[in-house]
Amino acid sequence: MSEPLDTGSHDLAIPAALAEFMGTGWSEPDAPTEVHPEVAAWAAKRRARLAGMFPGEHLVVPAGAAPVRSNDQFYRFRPGADYTWLTGDGNRGGTLVLAPDGEATLYTDEPPKLGSTAYWADRTTGVVWNGARTDLVTLGRALDLRCRPLAELPAALRTSRRARLLRGIDPHLDALVPVTDPAGDADLAVALADLRLIKDEWEVTQLQHAVDVTARGFEDVVRALPQATGPGGERWLEGTFWRRARTEGEEVGYHSIVAAGSHAATLHWKDNTGPVQPGQLLLLDAGVEVGTRYTADITRVLPVSGRFTPVQHDVYELVRAANDAAIDALRPGAAFRDYHWAAMAVLATGLVDLGLLRCSLDEALDPQRQLYRRWTLCGSGHMLGLDVHDCARATPGRYADGELQAGMTLTVEPGLYFQPNDELVPAELRGLGMRIEEDLLITATGSRNLSAALPRSAADVESWMAALAG
Ligand code: GLY
Ligand code: MN
Ligand code: MN
Repeated sequence: MSEPLDTGSHDLAIPAALAEFMGTGWSEPDAPTEVHPEVAAWAAKRRARLAGMFPGEHLVVPAGAAPVRSNDQFYRFRPGADYTWLTGDGNRGGTLVLAPDGEATLYTDEPPKLGSTAYWADRTTGVVWNGARTDLVTLGRALDLRCRPLAELPAALRTSRRARLLRGIDPHLDALVPVTDPAGDADLAVALADLRLIKDEWEVTQLQHAVDVTARGFEDVVRALPQATGPGGERWLEGTFWRRARTEGEEVGYHSIVAAGSHAATLHWKDNTGPVQPGQLLLLDAGVEVGTRYTADITRVLPVSGRFTPVQHDVYELVRAANDAAIDALRPGAAFRDYHWAAMAVLATGLVDLGLLRCSLDEALDPQRQLYRRWTLCGSGHMLGLDVHDCARATPGRYADGELQAGMTLTVEPGLYFQPNDELVPAELRGLGMRIEEDLLITATGSRNLSAALPRSAADVESWMAALAG
């Protein structure tokens, strides 16, 4: 799997004399080991649980590769969530192999050796181009894993009697390992998602950290509102949040939704190209992904001028009541869908009271009709963790059609969305989009709101904004 030297399409050829000259006169560079000091022990336990589900088999879980943006330009690399969960390693190009006896080996790119041409001339792997990387011995110590050069992986796979591969993550590996048992490979993906549904203690600390940094990003956005008011305001505020994400975390965990005015009624508005005007609401749905790659997913609705109008206030408080009802429904043993139905009962009642649903509440809630969905549009939350929509491949009976269990972390985010061109709603409601989104942990007795540091009620949002405005 060794790649030819990548010297780009526009660099000069390398004369032999230069190659020789560049090969000498260097000392070893300092290379950081960016492994969280506590992750190795947790990852070992997770590997043992996974191996226990597939006794006697080889399991292959790659980190993946950075997607190409154009030609030789790549999007920033982010290792796959399953690989991250099993290793704690953030380097690109790694592949974890669990042997039938449970022994774990991480095959990963060795940095080019000091003195080699690749060291200084290779744009993809070269240290001079990309920075120094830890050698495999040091990395292995930090991860408490046996690390071997990636070049040994093909031979290791050839000797494996039966290997299940997590497919769709690393195209090289997908091509290298012939598909002999597609259902068996898919079972590995499902097993990983099922296992990841329940977070361990350390994961909860990481998620809480992501939420805390995200809360600081929301404060930054509130402080920046005066400067952002005007054309291009959504872009400015997206940048404001992103700066917090980059300085205290790794990245944002998904494209931030910075939606002023009627953009808030577009569920996944992420162009963020619009102006921010006084009197409007700003819906901010954003999450920082911290260095260990857990992400928050929080939404607040902010009155740009600092105060909700009476109409904005009433719709906001209706959505908050739905959010309260949903949180009250969170407990181990409750169906995952229960909190959604609790929120929908509140919102449907409100929509009947507003005269928008012209029927009885029973008719409105009839599962065969669900007409309220014209204005609620989507489900009320999802699992959250290493991925914003975490554990998406989990067995339905353990997730969407299953029951909540202590250790699950999820969002609660019912909302109301009145499209600007909806002729069935009064003019003053058109273009309003309201969502409050909290991140919660299911505990032994109920739930803990990880995002409780941010205000929820309209009054608390207003006083929080006033305090930040100084
Ligand atoms: N920000 C995406 C979501 O709330 O699901
Ligand atoms: Mn969400
Ligand atoms: Mn969200």
